[in-house]
Amino acid sequence: MTPATIRLTVNGQTHDVTAAPDTPLLHALRNDLGLNGPKYGCGLGECGACTVLIDGRAARSCVIPIEGCVGRTVTTLEGLGSREAPDPVQQAFIAEQAAQCGYCLNGMIMTTKALLAIKPDPSLDEIKQALRYNLCRCGAHIEILRAAMRAAG
Ligand code: FES
Repeated sequence: MTPATIRLTVNGQTHDVTAAPDTPLLHALRNDLGLNGPKYGCGLGECGACTVLIDGRAARSCVIPIEGCVGRTVTTLEGLGSREAPDPVQQAFIAEQAAQCGYCLNGMIMTTKALLAIKPDPSLDEIKQALRYNLCRCGAHIEILRAAMRAAG
């Protein structure tokens, strides 16, 4: 596709990105905006490492073209909180030491955030259901579930 200038709203700021309209959002976030919270895992929408929030809902940024994000609000891990002032979900994952290699944690945190926005007091089964398509190859699932439960209060 011919490059075009696409306006994205990410973490409360607008950015004009010049790229082919079918460029995956993940590539624009990482390569053009320097937001490396979302990770490249499978590139096929299957692992969840690239998860962001689009209009508050969890979405796999590796399979969403930037042209599909015009007029929508994108939130990345960086938009939740900072090292100095982490979001409560980030705090819970830190407190439970949920990272082994940590590559999947962006997706785990963003998916948990989206779940809690619509279901502030989920059961363990509901958390498992929400995170079932976020893959962790280290096997840190117990810590991740504990962190999500802690975030849910
Ligand atoms: Fe997007 Fe795996 S990198 S789902």
